[in-house]
Amino acid sequence: SKAAVKVTVTGAAGQIGYALLFRIASGQLLGPDTPVRLSLLEIPPALKAAEGTAMELDDCAFPLLAGIDITDDAKHAFDGVNVALLVGARPRTKGMERGDLLEANGGIFKPQGEAINAGAADDVRVLVVGNPANTNALIARSHAPDVPAERFTAMTRLDHNRALSQVATKLGVSVSEISRMTIWGNHSATQYPDLFRAQVGGRSAAEAVGDDAWLRDTFIPTVAKRGAAIIEARGASSAASAANAAIDHVYDWVHGSDWTSMAVVSDGSYGVPEGLISSFPVRCVDGQWQIIQGLEIDEFSRERIDASVGELAEERDAVRELGLI
Ligand code: NAI
Repeated sequence: SKAAVKVTVTGAAGQIGYALLFRIASGQLLGPDTPVRLSLLEIPPALKAAEGTAMELDDCAFPLLAGIDITDDAKHAFDGVNVALLVGARPRTKGMERGDLLEANGGIFKPQGEAINAGAADDVRVLVVGNPANTNALIARSHAPDVPAERFTAMTRLDHNRALSQVATKLGVSVSEISRMTIWGNHSATQYPDLFRAQVGGRSAAEAVGDDAWLRDTFIPTVAKRGAAIIEARGASSAASAANAAIDHVYDWVHGSDWTSMAVVSDGSYGVPEGLISSFPVRCVDGQWQIIQGLEIDEFSRERIDASVGELAEERDAVRELGLI
């Protein structure tokens, strides 16, 4: 039988962790033929809760689950890791300045990047979910110089899936009828969900919708502010949908996809400064992503992409000033 793949989940005792671990252990992350060994990284006060989750994982008797370990030591958690899901992060609390937020997250993602650099398997793939996801990925990556830069990605798949769902509802079609959806830029309120490149029934989704005001004043803000709307309704932030998006992201990266959205290191494509971790339309082939090339970008889209990428550049400059990269 196939060797077990080591999957490390940080923030494993949090709400996304709880929605994610059971799906990984059941085979939905890597497929039904791949056994997994889970490593749960938490901070000391949450280790006991992580043990409780591990007890429930045991109680599921998942045939593919080859073992679980729980630790507060990043070096141990990332030793031999094949898939690293960096979910645990420092949330912005009331009155917190951006600099404080970036600094607190630097204190998490710098040592984790170092530990990945020191111990990860040669084929390691990293997905950063914890916010600010793009910039946290940039920090981790900059402390892992021996790991190819393309192995560090950040999650915009939840935004992508939200966009699909909004358009499908608007058009009264199934999500499966919509292709080529793209989220550009930062996983933040400035992100740009692009209906001009998306397709439905052989034309652009923007054309199919045929309602510029809806696209501009309803669709874009609904997708960009969906996280806040979930908090308002549920009294807690998106967890199951975020876990689902993390599963989709890694599954497609490993198994292939014609077109999806991932935040990946820019090579300068579409005017995004080289080195920023920005969301792009990507294709995944043979376990590797590639930025889809050759798309013509209209003026409306150009402005929005530039605005979100500008925010990413500001975040990069801020973490550089703080000495975090
Ligand atoms: P949560 O607060 O329920 O869980 C976070 C967990 O991380 C806690 O158990 C905490 O103890 C742990 N943690 C903190 N520092 C750690 C460290 N240094 N090492 C290991 N674990 C650590 O939060 P939740 O709801 O699970 O969300 C996690 C993150 O995901 C947040 O930053 C959230 O903003 C982000 N998120 C990102 C989304 C995206 O689309 N990219 C969507 C939804 C959430």
